[in-house]
Amino acid sequence: MKGVYRYERNAALRGTRDMNTDKKIGITRIKTGVKGLDDLIEGGVPQESITLITGPPGSGKTILCFHFISKGLESGEKCLFLTMDKKAEKLIIQAEELGFNFQSSLEKGALKFVFLDINKKLVYDVITKEILSGEYDRVVLDSITPLSEMPIYVEKNDLTSTVNLITPDDFSSDAGITPSRLHLHYVINLLDTAHCTSMITSELPFGSFQLSRDGISEFLADGVILLNFDPTMDRRKLSVMKMRNTQHTLKPREIKIGRDGITLV
Ligand SMILES: Nc1ncnc2c1ncn2[C@@H]1O[C@H](COP(=O)(O)OP(=O)(O)OP(=O)(O)O)[C@@H](O)[C@H]1O
Ligand SMILES: [Mg+2]
Repeated sequence: MKGVYRYERNAALRGTRDMNTDKKIGITRIKTGVKGLDDLIEGGVPQESITLITGPPGSGKTILCFHFISKGLESGEKCLFLTMDKKAEKLIIQAEELGFNFQSSLEKGALKFVFLDINKKLVYDVITKEILSGEYDRVVLDSITPLSEMPIYVEKNDLTSTVNLITPDDFSSDAGITPSRLHLHYVINLLDTAHCTSMITSELPFGSFQLSRDGISEFLADGVILLNFDPTMDRRKLSVMKMRNTQHTLKPREIKIGRDGITLV
């Protein structure tokens, strides 16, 4: 795919092993900022990993991403929040109401919110430019779902300009590949190339047994955190379904969302 080159998948994420003790060394853990979650995953998500945050509407996906960004800012990291659904200003107000003070970081240039308009065919140019040029430590993409459902756009007359996710040459070798998979591969490769640690969200219909709306992202991501709730019991849950290079429980943990965001009970 144009402009994005896949390097060997996350060498930093894999780490190495001590010859004498056979213990894993070299994986840097990046704290999610959610109290109790980091303890479940050996201290945090692996550096340069991509974690899928998945769940039905209102399950806390965006709030978890606020924690992730807030923790990064606290550690002096540069952060990018790409949003699909809402105007960035509304999102910042929502974050402020939960006690996340993003304003000063926005003013200092340590944090950037970008609203992605999927109605614009140049949406991929915006994403690519932002992620590759910003030298961000942490990136959030909230959410991947509208992007994964877009049609593939190919400029007929000028195959070297604008979006050009695929070319006829790509088609000949990838016959049968779905637009969703192409979109998702593009985004994953982009985040890999940028060497950032990222969270992407996926919108699940309530009651779904899938791990993502598209049925593909959970295989491409390094980690999957499922957020869910039980309305009858008035309970919320968080489950770490996958985290590469990490020993973790699969058991759902009860969470609460309150004035200071998400906490594990
Ligand atoms: N200040 C608050 N105090 C307590 N609970 C809150 C507060 N703000 C939000 N919530 C809870 O969090 C939910 C929204 O969380 P969030 O926006 O992270 O969900 P989401 O999974 O991103 O949803 P969507 O898929 O619709 O974007 C609300 O529906 C509400 O239940
Ligand atoms: Mg949301």
